[in-house]
Amino acid sequence: MSALADRYRALIAAGELRPDADQAAAVAALDRLAEALKESGRKGSLLGLFSRAPAPPAGVYMWGGVGRGKSMLMDLAFETIDHHPKRRVHFHEFMIEVHERLRVERAKEEGDPIPPVAEAIGRRAKLLCFDEMVINNPADAMILSRLFAHLLEEGVTVIATSNRPPGDLYLSGLNRELFLPFIALIEKELDVVPLNGPVDYRLERLGGMPTWYVPNGPEATAALSDAFFRLTDYPVEDRARVPAEDLQLGGGRILHVPKSLKGVAVFSFRRLCGEARGASDYLAVARRYHSVILVGIPRLSPANRNEAARFVTLIDALYEHKVKLLAAAEAEPQDLYPAGDGSFEFERTASRLIEMQSADYLALGHGEA
Ligand SMILES: Nc1ncnc2c1ncn2[C@@H]1O[C@H](COP(=O)(O)OP(=O)(O)O)[C@@H](O)[C@H]1O
Ligand SMILES: [Mg+2]
Repeated sequence: MSALADRYRALIAAGELRPDADQAAAVAALDRLAEALKESGRKGSLLGLFSRAPAPPAGVYMWGGVGRGKSMLMDLAFETIDHHPKRRVHFHEFMIEVHERLRVERAKEEGDPIPPVAEAIGRRAKLLCFDEMVINNPADAMILSRLFAHLLEEGVTVIATSNRPPGDLYLSGLNRELFLPFIALIEKELDVVPLNGPVDYRLERLGGMPTWYVPNGPEATAALSDAFFRLTDYPVEDRARVPAEDLQLGGGRILHVPKSLKGVAVFSFRRLCGEARGASDYLAVARRYHSVILVGIPRLSPANRNEAARFVTLIDALYEHKVKLLAAAEAEPQDLYPAGDGSFEFERTASRLIEMQSADYLALGHGEA
């Protein structure tokens, strides 16, 4: 049995995790992977004198609804599987890097850019963990099957999570027939395991707590900080040291995220909507985080029309990517921007903000376009 299975059992025994049949099956699959990687890495054993070590196994693909423990199991696998170098990356960020590498490679005009890019990625990571594989962009869809075929050839092992089974990826995408080989590759090479039991543990952890707090103030701050720690399982004793992150935006700019952990980010209204920003910045936030905690939303007056317009764009991006929003504001959504340029259109934003508080919305998967 691998360290991963040990850790999972210990967490159940300690009452931190509840027993879950789908998770047990996924742990068994990851356990097989860990053992096979150990086998493939064995050198100088007696066995090795007679036969070559087996090639590293291709990997595991875990799919299922939000809050089923996909990221949690991926973290456990990443921490415990002894196969180096290893790398854990959000899928969307990985694809940005891939396109950048392809661009550099194409500029050299030395032929097919995919093999050298796969080789470079494989040098950096023998175990590659992708959280939240979502494909909704034709440029990604077109290269994935060849890229992954080359990565596997390079001996890279892949662990991926997704809201969807492989056959439903890029479902109504443009030129989908060109994407089908990628689906076939995943189904053939990876161990595909559903993680789709009846319980949404994330929703359970929020325990029906409200997601919109009025007014701004110490009570709202305390409730949102509680929600942050529930969503991230962050140990109480480390609360003073929640990591920050610099999110890469287009054009080499960065957005400083004062608190960022396990796909949950905390922002102030002023940082997100008080500075000159546009839709692409908000899309970067919406793709990167499954949950956003936004504090200090003021009541907006006609003089705040720029802030109001940015807020509308932000909420559109979050809504379209099914990002969960927890917020503290001076007023209820429908009273936030009663008068001023665009206040009529703001009604749509208010209605989205109300829908985003519903249990149905909170149960949706992140990133589904
Ligand atoms: N078996 C379980 N019992 C209790 N809590 C769980 C269990 N599995 C996962 N969780 C918790 O539920 C939350 C959501 O899990 P996560 O891995 O983020 O889900 P997903 O990535 O599938 O959306 C996390 O806080 C996680 O620790
Ligand atoms: Mg997740």
